[in-house]
Amino acid sequence: MTKKVTEDRLYMRTTKRIGLFDSGVGGLSVLRHLVTVTEGEGLEFVYLGDAARCPYGNRAKAEIATFVDEIVSWLTSFQLDAIVMACNTSAAVAKDAAVAAASRAPAVKLYDLIEPTADWIVANPPKSVGVMSTINTANSKAFSKALAARGYQGSVVELGCPKLVPLIESGRLGESECESALSLALTEYLQALAGVDALILGCTHFPFVADRIENLVQGQLKALFPNGLKLIDPAHALAFQLLGLAAPNLIPQQNEAPLAAEPQANCYQSDAFRFFTTGIASDFAVAAERCLGQPLGQVQELAVSVLERAASNESVTSQQSSKSIESLESIKLQNVAIDVATSGSFA
Ligand code: DGL
Repeated sequence: MTKKVTEDRLYMRTTKRIGLFDSGVGGLSVLRHLVTVTEGEGLEFVYLGDAARCPYGNRAKAEIATFVDEIVSWLTSFQLDAIVMACNTSAAVAKDAAVAAASRAPAVKLYDLIEPTADWIVANPPKSVGVMSTINTANSKAFSKALAARGYQGSVVELGCPKLVPLIESGRLGESECESALSLALTEYLQALAGVDALILGCTHFPFVADRIENLVQGQLKALFPNGLKLIDPAHALAFQLLGLAAPNLIPQQNEAPLAAEPQANCYQSDAFRFFTTGIASDFAVAAERCLGQPLGQVQELAVSVLERAASNESVTSQQSSKSIESLESIKLQNVAIDVATSGSFA
């Protein structure tokens, strides 16, 4: 069960402003957890979904490292306390690029989801673990390596599941065609993972279809998982690690700990949240709302060229950023000024 964070714990917390990034809407499943665990109190969030270049899951490593360098460099201009790699593919194949970019802003702490998940698993180890992830993450064996480094003795099966991200990004979750395709893809993947006791949702998009996985495992695929299947959302471990707290029970017992409790209605519309996408703002907002079940506040479009300049250390002024954004035809909020260079203020 996600524990309520007491005032004492909040007082001890050092992180105030958190940046998260993903290739798209997947990292919102991590944001949702952070908001749930902290109740959002006293925190501000900057979120970037690199939808123009999504998916990352089968891109070349060098290309992902370039994207990660650009994004982390850009995020550091927000005077963040922490950056969360809310994209396991980036963490699996390009963590070094993130560390190097973050080190140019020494006050910022960098987090990924793989390390805290491995810590959490070995504290309460299941007999066997399946990992559903992108192809890149599966090929990297990042979860297996992190578990082995901590002495985990059980078996780990990592599976690349490339059909899920495009469906989740489509903005059509809940529509019959999309749901049928999801069901077919999930069935294929779960069949390949038959018999594991626990399943890590190793791509941040996948918690948004956790309920579909549970329905299949409790229904037509029940025979494949005779001992049941515990779903593990890495965001749970990350949220507690980031707050400096011990995560409660890794593997929830029966009737305990939903994967993520729901934050309050309309919580993402407050000034404490700033959402950016390199894709089309309205598409991002629709996909996000389908995933989260509630609307975001305004989403700002960010030209990829702004990210590229951030990485090349070219000074990105707020004027330059606004120009890049205004040049995108689809932008709805013409008067939005993005203070990437001087982002002391959130309002
Ligand atoms: N959500 C990301 C992850 O956790 C990336 C998915 C993708 O772009 O393929 O791996």
